[in-house]
Amino acid sequence: MEQNEPDHLAALGHYALRFAKPGDVVGLGTGRAATAFINALGASLIQVRGIPTSRASEELGRSLGIELASLADAPKIDTDFDGADEVDPRLNLIKGYGGALVREKIVAAASRRFIVLVGEEKLVKRLGARGSLPVEVVPFALPLATRRVAALGLKPKVRQKDGADFISDNGNLILDCGVKEIRNPARLDRELREIPGVVGTGLFIGMASMVLVARNNGKIDVLRPH
Ligand code: A5P
Repeated sequence: MEQNEPDHLAALGHYALRFAKPGDVVGLGTGRAATAFINALGASLIQVRGIPTSRASEELGRSLGIELASLADAPKIDTDFDGADEVDPRLNLIKGYGGALVREKIVAAASRRFIVLVGEEKLVKRLGARGSLPVEVVPFALPLATRRVAALGLKPKVRQKDGADFISDNGNLILDCGVKEIRNPARLDRELREIPGVVGTGLFIGMASMVLVARNNGKIDVLRPH
């Protein structure tokens, strides 16, 4: 069943269909923008196989009759369609406010093309502008990882949902790390990934092939890395 979504995201999801063709293997992202794309795909006649980035996207895809596959069935993905929480002028991203960052990064990395769908409020001058960077951590490593993340100058807090720790689809915890604007996102990503027990970060550096931006005036801009 289609979910309700704001008009600008519905238009964005529909616009992105031009980058999917019959027979493609496509990554199915997570979040509102990705949901808009999955809804548009389900309503279209384009027959693809979808690789979901979360249980939520898997359920949505299945409910819309989209054929689903795993990375084992289709190790190479033509195009991944996903949202983002921040996009900087180089098209580096912060993702993971929805908690699906690890699978999202795996699917993006396995894709020939990674198309990001956002509203214009997600465009920032520097990553970190919205003040938070999600980092996924193995529960056993939490005390060490929290200390090491804090030593990098971030303010880690275990994400909560409905009064309990939020558990990712991979069975891990998410540290929402308070950040100021990040001067060197690639270095911070490396430093975080060096911490034992850190499974992945929400920094997606040099991965986006294209960003589709829904402007407040109803237009859609296509940004490419330069
Ligand atoms: C999920 O973990 C996230 O990375 C989402 O892709 C991101 O939060 C964007 O979601 P919205 O489109 O809902 O803003």
